[in-house]
Amino acid sequence: MGFSPFQAILLFSYVALALGASYSQTDNISGSGFLNAFTYEAIADPTHGRVNYVGASVASSENLTYASGDHFVLRADYKKTLSASGAGRDSVRLRSNKQYTTAVMVFNMRHMPQGCGTWPAVWTVGGDWPNQGEVDILEGVNDQGPNQATLHTNSGCTMPGSRSQTGNAVGNNCDGAVTNNAGCGVKFADARSYGPIFNHQGGGWFAIERTNSFIKIWFWSRAETDIPADVRNGETTVNTANWGTPGAYFPNTSCSLSSHFGPHNIIINLTFCGDFAGQSSVYRASGCPSTCIDFVNNNPSAFEDAYFDFQWLKIYG
Ligand SMILES: *[C@@H]1O[C@H](CO)[C@@H](O)[C@H](O)[C@H]1NC(C)=O
Ligand SMILES: *[C@@H]1O[C@H](CO)[C@@H](O)[C@H](O)[C@H]1NC(C)=O
Ligand SMILES: *[C@@H]1O[C@H](CO)[C@@H](O)[C@H](O)[C@H]1NC(C)=O
Ligand SMILES: *[C@@H]1O[C@H](CO)[C@@H](O)[C@H](O)[C@H]1NC(C)=O
Repeated sequence: MGFSPFQAILLFSYVALALGASYSQTDNISGSGFLNAFTYEAIADPTHGRVNYVGASVASSENLTYASGDHFVLRADYKKTLSASGAGRDSVRLRSNKQYTTAVMVFNMRHMPQGCGTWPAVWTVGGDWPNQGEVDILEGVNDQGPNQATLHTNSGCTMPGSRSQTGNAVGNNCDGAVTNNAGCGVKFADARSYGPIFNHQGGGWFAIERTNSFIKIWFWSRAETDIPADVRNGETTVNTANWGTPGAYFPNTSCSLSSHFGPHNIIINLTFCGDFAGQSSVYRASGCPSTCIDFVNNNPSAFEDAYFDFQWLKIYG
């Protein structure tokens, strides 16, 4: 039996959706453009980190954010020894002014924060957490790679055990309430995707494609030989069909992405210790000295490399 033209169009759209698609650039953010596209959030860390998130004026006077040419640097303080009874280490949390639903984002990063006690993240999140969902694109602690990408949702969202990704699933229930908020995470296969190894290679590119049928996250190291040209050059259109198997693949097989994920802001944050990096078993397993909080309080110079350096962020729709 042949296909009617209508069926053929349906089939074509389905294949195009599953394989990726072409997108046009909507945002081109680099250097001081980050300061227009994002807002400082001087809030208490909801994950109890040993951090003091500062606003724009302190960030500027302490040089914790710095923009020049195609560099946007976001760092923590590495000069002050902290009093045990005082605030945590000065750092920065930024939230994008715009919100995005289905979109492609490409982050070109030269460097990410490293050091014992660091917990950097680049992620997207909706309001009324966890009801609008959270997508962690880049996350790790205490220099322990590889990168882990994770979804956090309310109830009724799980991932199939076997799926087309190069990374390894570490949990398939995205409902934060049933796994002590572990979410459904995927550890990338490429050790260059996180921490000192990422930095040693000059960083690389993280990309996310969010549709209503899947969320895919890719990583390419700067040292990689076949980086898609549209990614490498931040071209004005990109075609995700040419990007290969993603590091992490979250299909909608048993999770309605359109109902578990709302409009998201992008968050870039750098905290210390807290619920993840500071857990004594996690901290010690990393081979880090002392206790996390003592180390962060008393060793400012250990945080000289605790910074992001973004070359650009391009968003497509
Ligand atoms: C993106 O922004 C950079 C820096 O402002 C600029 O040099 C470049 O031409 C822009 N690209 C596009 C496609 O607008
Ligand atoms: C920092 O990022 C992680 C994202 O994985 C998030 O769980 C944590 O709540 C964030 N902390 C702050 C203070 O924003
Ligand atoms: C601020 O930080 C940038 C990036 O790390 C650095 O190049 C610059 O020299 C710093 N400026 C001052 C005044 O320390
Ligand atoms: C998965 O996505 C497709 C395309 O958007 C949609 O038709 C289908 O209903 C979705 N399935 C679930 C379980 O949400």
